[in-house]
Amino acid sequence: MATISTADLHPRFVKIKWSDGRMSSFHHVWLRDNCPQKRHPQTNHRVDETSAIPLDIEPTSATVVDGALQVLWSDDHQSTFGADWLAEHDYSSGIRREKPKPVLWDGTFTPHVPRMTYEQLYNDTQARIAWIRAFRDYGVAIMTEMPTAEGTVAKVGDELGRVRDTSWGRVFDVKSIAKANSVAYTSLPLVLHTDEGYRDPAPTVQLQHFLVSESTGGDATLVDGFKVAHDLREQAPEKFDVLCNTELYFHFADVDIVLENDGPIIELDPAGNIKAVRFSNHSCQPFLIDEDKMEAYYDAYSTFGAMREDPRYRIQIPMGAGEMYMVNNRRVMHGRTGFTSGGNRHLQSCYIELDELYGRLSILERAALATH
Ligand SMILES: [Fe+2]
Repeated sequence: MATISTADLHPRFVKIKWSDGRMSSFHHVWLRDNCPQKRHPQTNHRVDETSAIPLDIEPTSATVVDGALQVLWSDDHQSTFGADWLAEHDYSSGIRREKPKPVLWDGTFTPHVPRMTYEQLYNDTQARIAWIRAFRDYGVAIMTEMPTAEGTVAKVGDELGRVRDTSWGRVFDVKSIAKANSVAYTSLPLVLHTDEGYRDPAPTVQLQHFLVSESTGGDATLVDGFKVAHDLREQAPEKFDVLCNTELYFHFADVDIVLENDGPIIELDPAGNIKAVRFSNHSCQPFLIDEDKMEAYYDAYSTFGAMREDPRYRIQIPMGAGEMYMVNNRRVMHGRTGFTSGGNRHLQSCYIELDELYGRLSILERAALATH
């Protein structure tokens, strides 16, 4: 419980002294913009237009009334800010929105990949919450003991979020087929990649369900792209920068559709945190960059490419029938080892999106809190 002792009006700021002696400052324009009485009572959306507030707006007074900060404005509007609310939004003391931070992993991660059974998905809310939270941390999770009926992956996708319908359909099959239009449909090893770099936006979560897995080999290979990017940043910052600052062109064409999108291998947020990794060597088009930067780009791209295939980073998981892995497609690269083409092998995949997955997690967490 925060307690305000005094409030003082200064040019541009209201200064608060807390009961423990700490000081905080709030800009006048910020206070007017965030006035709790200027929020819609149901939606909590802002009702006033921020750009219409004069940058030099000044309160006529700032006082502490019943423990709250009361600010009067020259248009007779009155704003009342609770002490706890101010403490939770005290940007002058370094309060920032806390986002979940990814937990990086490497090739030693295999025994720690989060697992949950199909039965737990439906009947054990705590296990489900823990599994999705772990997925948010690591970008990968496995579900076991699933039915091997076709379409199960979409049922699970719609339970976790909402299946994204693309030109492949809601669900797409991966079998080894004779007239393959992708290396995915052969028995060859599949190098590590993120999916669908040529879509805008690329799907954010892939679910890959093994219905039949009789061939020898064909293990799932998975790499934390954030870990590779993080280590590259430490070992060769100039190569890291090049991969962040150079946009590549990704393209796919089939009889029914042409898909194209552009983006860098590594995407950063404005604070410099790694936000997304996009690596799809097979669908990446010829690099068209300045002549004097070409060799340096190849050097950086090849370094990242070799790191992603290094066993130091890669986990390798044999996947049996009735098992499914789920990856954050903006972070974790997936592939597979080669397999004998004799045995039957059938996978079904679908895409869902992170916002729906985490949005439903929040509802589950809220419901779990309410019952305790
Ligand atoms: Fe893929």
